Amino acid sequence: MNKFLQLVTLLCFVMFITVALAGETTNRIIVNADLGKEQISKHIYGHFAEHLGNCIYGGFWVGEDSPIPNTRGIRNDVLEAMREIKPPVIRWPGGCFADTYHWKDGIGPRANRPSIINTNWGGVTEDNSFGTHEFLDLCELLECEPYICVNVGSGTVQEAAEWVEYINSDAVSPMTELRKKNGREKPWNVKYWAVGNESWGCGGNMTPEYYADQFKRYATYMNAGRLYKVASGGTDPDFAWTRTVMQKTQAYPNLIQGYSFHYYSFCRGWNDKSSAIQFNENDWFNTMKVTWVVDERLRQHSSIMDEFDPNNRIGLIADEWGNWFWVEPGTNPGFLYQQNTVRDAVTAALYLNIFNNQCRRVKMANIAQTINVLQAMLLTKDNQIVKTPTFYVFKMFKVHQDATMLPLDIQCEDYKFEKEQVPAVSASASRDAQGKVHISLANMNPNKNIELSIDVRGAAKFAKSAGEIITGPAMNSYNDFGKPEQVNIQAFKDFKIKDNSLVINLPSKSVVTLELSN
Ligand code: AHR
Repeated sequence: MNKFLQLVTLLCFVMFITVALAGETTNRIIVNADLGKEQISKHIYGHFAEHLGNCIYGGFWVGEDSPIPNTRGIRNDVLEAMREIKPPVIRWPGGCFADTYHWKDGIGPRANRPSIINTNWGGVTEDNSFGTHEFLDLCELLECEPYICVNVGSGTVQEAAEWVEYINSDAVSPMTELRKKNGREKPWNVKYWAVGNESWGCGGNMTPEYYADQFKRYATYMNAGRLYKVASGGTDPDFAWTRTVMQKTQAYPNLIQGYSFHYYSFCRGWNDKSSAIQFNENDWFNTMKVTWVVDERLRQHSSIMDEFDPNNRIGLIADEWGNWFWVEPGTNPGFLYQQNTVRDAVTAALYLNIFNNQCRRVKMANIAQTINVLQAMLLTKDNQIVKTPTFYVFKMFKVHQDATMLPLDIQCEDYKFEKEQVPAVSASASRDAQGKVHISLANMNPNKNIELSIDVRGAAKFAKSAGEIITGPAMNSYNDFGKPEQVNIQAFKDFKIKDNSLVINLPSKSVVTLELSN
């Protein structure tokens, strides 16, 4: 650190100590506009689409003969909506489904594809009408990158190697001939590949030692093109798994480029979730509390990775995250269909702020899941579509994609509930290629507006400022079929700016993004 930066850091520290000693809770953020050096990978704004419930079937895919308007079988309304949030990457085909999926079932004429049982998700028939070509067509239509998870749990090394060859190779081989016979001349050149999913659980109940060896076998033979291969992480608090996989792959930098991390906010725990809509403040508070844990978890895994990968070569890939509530009453429990409220918007902003701030190590994140499953962007029913509060957070936060993260210091009051508390405000900031600074804020407190001062230091004086907000009349407000939207993006003006210092009145249970420009 040079002398100037040391001085700035010291001044910030002294200021915080002074305020703390005075016993005041001044809500204050300092955005260090001249200290940005890490890029917020656009892939942090990624998605996840599994063969689960109505994510693929009825969500993305209705088939070419459907009365629902579609492009080669993919819903036009979904394509249009997804383009609004600029999806950079979609992970497919699972999830747990990936470790039961045999990709050759999903190629060739649809009438000849076998039907199988989706053993993980409701035991329903999977007719394989959406397979490799359809998924890659979807990614081309959305101009986003595919991220494919290969089957380690019940598949073979040969099957995985052939899938990579089928998709990526330009050489003459049985797999490339098969691809051409199925209508695709040129390879797709897919870069991102996961080697198994949750290999500690539905992906084969492996030990970390066994999985690390399997990872090396698979990754050795998945080699058509320059691939970014992602190893399966353990359960979110399993640091021993991270240490073992890092240690056993350390001597093979060509094999491992990413390491996956999954985190779900269950409210209180797997057996004590909450209803997605019918919840009280206790449920709201607990969802905020368990989501704040992600910040610490990522730091813990990153610090283990730092030991084995001090040059920060391996990305931490948060390829499943989000709220997991009870399914909506009357729906198939295996389909994980849940509604989405202001609570989802606030926690989505909290997750994304955490990923933004930890973008040195976090190189991709994929919210679970895109349509009709868990914390979805979109809900569909026949020919109708709903954009959820979480959709609007992705739309609002897309300004951070590939922008430079601006480190910030935050001091703010807690949101207290009964005998517990969590920080009331979460924030992140970035500067985009045009020099615009964006500051995103979320107020966890459902009962109280928070007055906040924000100083943007180290930047030329901004001439223009604007704001946007997502909130709703109640903490469980949501958007529903056939009804006017209750939660979406509105203009936000409740702030003042003078000489790069802002004072903002951040409404309760809200997500706000401010834009400052010259
Ligand atoms: O997203 C739903 C499931 O959650 C995924 O299939 C699995 O990987 C995780 O446990």
